Amino acid sequence: MRYSKIVGLGHHVPETVITNEYLSSIMDTNNEWIVERTGIQERRYVDPSKDTVANMAAKAARMALQRAKLTEKDIDFIVFATITPDYFFPGSGVLLQRELGLESIGALDIRNACSGFIYALSVADQFIKTGMYKTILVVGAEIQSTAIDMTTRGRNTAVIFADGAGAAILQPSEKPGILSTHLHSDGRFAEELYVRDPGSSRPREERQPEQILDTTHFKVVMNGNQVFKHAVVRFMEVINEALNANQLKKEDINLLVPHQANLRISQYIQEKLALRDDQVYNNIMRYGNTTAASIPIALSEAWAEGKIKENDLLCLAAFGSGFTWASALIRW
Ligand code: COA
Repeated sequence: MRYSKIVGLGHHVPETVITNEYLSSIMDTNNEWIVERTGIQERRYVDPSKDTVANMAAKAARMALQRAKLTEKDIDFIVFATITPDYFFPGSGVLLQRELGLESIGALDIRNACSGFIYALSVADQFIKTGMYKTILVVGAEIQSTAIDMTTRGRNTAVIFADGAGAAILQPSEKPGILSTHLHSDGRFAEELYVRDPGSSRPREERQPEQILDTTHFKVVMNGNQVFKHAVVRFMEVINEALNANQLKKEDINLLVPHQANLRISQYIQEKLALRDDQVYNNIMRYGNTTAASIPIALSEAWAEGKIKENDLLCLAAFGSGFTWASALIRW
């Protein structure tokens, strides 16, 4: 049996720090509310004149390659998870391929929002297991700040979402590696967390830019209560599914790296799994929710801080727009 394993991790976050105080100065919110409900103290926003989803992804990828002692030329496939691509089409995968100076290798885009990185990891894992590719670059990168309604009307999303990029390099391995991935969705809840436009289901006359009178359709819309309620249930289900599939117990987890949706969600899962603080990695306090980028950024930081050791059992879990949810168990 051939497995895949992560041989390098990297991340990049934009320089500009956006504090809760700054948000409180432009909309009706305050530091206490944000910290109490979300755990977020600050987040990063891109400078749109400098940063793109693809160039942040390239910086994260280069860090991952360097740590893996590999070069761009070793990559033979790209899987790119983002819901905020630089263009409506083509996807950001080809832009990253260009940015890295690579010729003609395939690039696949994944649009599964906060679960995107685990979906991407799962796809890469299957390609490695079948022998189709040997070195796959998996990235999650997002620019949410430009799609957020930065007024009081959008405050429930403005305080949460932010920008960043994370990357992982996968290669084949004789021993595991990625033990399993578990992917789910429930499209009945698609409109509970979404951006409506530029939606192709609009009649032609409505797709003319001058006809689009309601620009809120280009902003993130979220029913926070619904998302929260479903998230806590699905996170637990998909983590237990992963443990059961591998005949493992929650006590076997060395490090849980949850999608950084909201600190309260992570704390709820931690309590249900009876994990100590050092068994759960959270960095949402510093970066907010970076959607598909949140897990690879957290993984990259946890690794750099020496929190991931050989033979450790890592559990990744995510929930988000779709709704989609997913988990992965990894023997490091
Ligand atoms: N600052 C101050 N007040 C705010 C606010 C903000 N940023 N956002 C909302 N409020 C207000 C609401 O208007 C409401 O006021 P009202 O009682 O006068 O109507 C009040 O706070 C409570 O709103 P509610 O939406 O019920 O709060 P909540 O406890 O559910 O917290 C979230 C809101 C968004 C923090 C919470 O629902 C949440 O975290 N949901 C999950 C979101 C998530 O994880 N998304 C990412 C998924 S990947």
